[in-house]
Amino acid sequence: MNSFEYHSPTNVIFGKGVEQQIGEKVAECGCKKLLIVYGGGSVKRSGLLDRVEKSLSEHNIEYIELGGVVPNPRLSLVQKGVEMCLKESVDMILGVGGGSVIDTAKAVAMGVYGDVWAIIEGREKLEKALPTCNILTLAATGSETGSGTVITNDTLGGDMLKKGTKHQLLRPVFTLMNPELMYTLPPYQTACGVVDIMMHTFERFFVPSGVNEMTDRIAEALLKTVMQYGVICYNEPENYTARSEVMWAGSLSHNFITGLGRAQDWATHQIEHELGGMFDVAHGAGLAAVWGSWARYVCKEADIISRFARYGVNVLGLPMNYAEPERTAMAAIEATERYFQQLDMPICISELLGRTLTDAEIEELSVKCTYYGKRRVGGAIKMGEKEIADVLHMANK
Ligand code: NZQ
Ligand code: ZN
Repeated sequence: MNSFEYHSPTNVIFGKGVEQQIGEKVAECGCKKLLIVYGGGSVKRSGLLDRVEKSLSEHNIEYIELGGVVPNPRLSLVQKGVEMCLKESVDMILGVGGGSVIDTAKAVAMGVYGDVWAIIEGREKLEKALPTCNILTLAATGSETGSGTVITNDTLGGDMLKKGTKHQLLRPVFTLMNPELMYTLPPYQTACGVVDIMMHTFERFFVPSGVNEMTDRIAEALLKTVMQYGVICYNEPENYTARSEVMWAGSLSHNFITGLGRAQDWATHQIEHELGGMFDVAHGAGLAAVWGSWARYVCKEADIISRFARYGVNVLGLPMNYAEPERTAMAAIEATERYFQQLDMPICISELLGRTLTDAEIEELSVKCTYYGKRRVGGAIKMGEKEIADVLHMANK
């Protein structure tokens, strides 16, 4: 096990009706004026926003609102939120929604003290941020307890680049997680969420690793749980047990606990972020469309066959082929793709976009993914423009 530092300070309040506690919890934080961030309207249609406003008013919390966050959330709206916070002396931000909303809330929180895009690009240091909290409505990104935010630069010259940053200052103070709030999710979003949760653990699992049993076994339990209950959520949207299991798995999958003590990969995520920025696809669907190709590529190139085989045996229950472990690894990749198909998720580019990519688009995606040649991605193998393009060509069917 490699050395690590672990600190996950977000207070998790989980269960039926917990959103009713929002006024009380915000008041406990000493908040005087709150910015509520939400998306395209699901929280209005479900009545959740009304309940939130009522609870805040009962606790004499003043608030202003910023709606209209879109999936693959935009920098321009973040900037609008920053202006609102400065003008209205906001001292805390509440995101009510999925990852895009929570990421926007975090980006606004850091924008009050610095230039958001400069911080994301590493040109400016994040020194201070407003505190955030959230009411989660979509289990997927783990942003509700995590330290990350991912934003798409839609401003002039921003090139629709989608980039993220991580910082402990961005960990939300608390999250209110009621599995019932996900009953209204369209099946497609449920499926995207399940894939994303799996992927946050995959990115930490499929890397060369020494002995690291505690972390491996947490990861395997998480994957088994989310795969078992994910398909139930997809078919029975109002199954509370299944929604609960997946919701909690979503937070644990991306609060770093499934990757402690070893290197991580994240190439699939980096490739998907460019697909999201260029084609505005849903994050989970983009991941499902490229993961199998990435997995086959690194299995050929890297010494991580045993990791795929271990996953196949311990998570999927496949028999181990000791003479030819690569067969077990390939069977595990194929079984995972079949699982994605059970959720009607794409497993190649044409299923994602309705067409294949042109060579010019593959080149553009690969160049952008390396931040125009400034970085390589991945931990299983280090991928530059060529390797990323190879994976995209494999997925391009
Ligand atoms: O906008 P509204 O109307 O609320 O509708 C949303 C949106 O259209 C809808 N939705 C959410 N909860 C709902 C609901 N509809 C009905 N009932 C509910 N209960 O779902 C749609 C998708 O929402 P979004 O927030 O975009 O999805 P998700 O949670 O998957 O977030 C995706 C974003 O997070 C980023 C992704 O790249 C993407 O931009 N990620 C953030 C990470 C992080 N902060 O650490 C890590 C992830 O790997 C990921 O990159
Ligand atoms: Zn993700």
